[in-house]
Amino acid sequence: MVENDFVPAGYTAQSERGKVTWRAPSNIALVKYWGKRENQIPANPSLSFTLDACNTTTSLSYEKRNGKRTDFSFELFFEGKAKDDFKPKIELFFKRTKHYLPFLKDYHFKIETSNSFPHSSGIASSASGMAALSLCLMDLEKQLDPDMGMDFMLQKASFLARLGSGSACRSIQGNLIQWGAHSGIPGSSDQYGIQYPFRVHKVFKNYHDTILLVDKGKKQVSSTMGHNLMHGHPFADNRFKQAHENISRLKPVFADGNLKEFINIVESEALTLHAMMMTSEPYFMLMKPNTLEIIHKIWEFRRESNSNLCFTLDAGANVHVLYPEFEKEKVHQFIKNELIVFCEKEQYICDRIGFGAKRLKSVSDNLYG
Ligand code: PMV
Repeated sequence: MVENDFVPAGYTAQSERGKVTWRAPSNIALVKYWGKRENQIPANPSLSFTLDACNTTTSLSYEKRNGKRTDFSFELFFEGKAKDDFKPKIELFFKRTKHYLPFLKDYHFKIETSNSFPHSSGIASSASGMAALSLCLMDLEKQLDPDMGMDFMLQKASFLARLGSGSACRSIQGNLIQWGAHSGIPGSSDQYGIQYPFRVHKVFKNYHDTILLVDKGKKQVSSTMGHNLMHGHPFADNRFKQAHENISRLKPVFADGNLKEFINIVESEALTLHAMMMTSEPYFMLMKPNTLEIIHKIWEFRRESNSNLCFTLDAGANVHVLYPEFEKEKVHQFIKNELIVFCEKEQYICDRIGFGAKRLKSVSDNLYG
């Protein structure tokens, strides 16, 4: 699939008005995407677990406009309230995707969105949010082109979501998603995420991710700025090479369920991501003292109990604690006893690997408003 395959040749059906609703999950990268080229093309491939409990639900109501329009027309509601400060992001998303969705200017849209996790949790909603909106738009496109296959629809949703927020392309399907061209992964592409095509041991099929909310404040440095600082970064080339190698190293790990090697790769990826931040020009740091306290506690617990839990980080201070289902009780106890004291207001979210986005039945299906 190349970019032009996502430009529709024409539509065979019409839809005057309607409403569609999709719920899309967040995801957590095991091999991190950090650094990008023009048009949201990743500087290196990445690999993620799709999550389940952390998700965004978006409804898109649409109504055909009269005459030829040159602008986009939409309203945006977040958790029931008009949210004008989110509009520029959507406007930019529409501009980037209009070539692939030529109907965008023909409709007035009402976008209603909400997250399952608290707004100020430090958990980015851009991945699940852009994935849910892309799926709603593809749902409408499928009504205009009823012959469109499901595989194509999901692939194009991932392609569109990428244009909204890079890692969002990994939030369409479950449960292990690879994004970015890699010589050892057939079908991998810089344009969209794919389901990991090799054997995955059953231990990874129901992995847990408990997200410890260390700092719920807004980040001082956005991911966009962080990605940009990889241009001319002194360690960039080696870092990009390392991401390719780590994806290759994970292949036998996933096949055999080698948790010790999984831990080595995943924790190294998390610390490398933050090392890139700390060695950017200008340098910055998103980890907080409690992030480090938690990491040291995890290492200590692992040494003493021979547990397989490990941590990863995204672009923030929160810690994702990853562990297999068979250690659930032991790890929950450890988190409650030893880790939640380091969380803001002792808050954490229990999540786990998930199976991808879902179409929900809209309360007022086919009714605008
Ligand atoms: O999709 P963005 O631009 O918000 O970047 C996400 C970057 C990381 O979360 C740090 C890593 C990743 O691969 O998800």
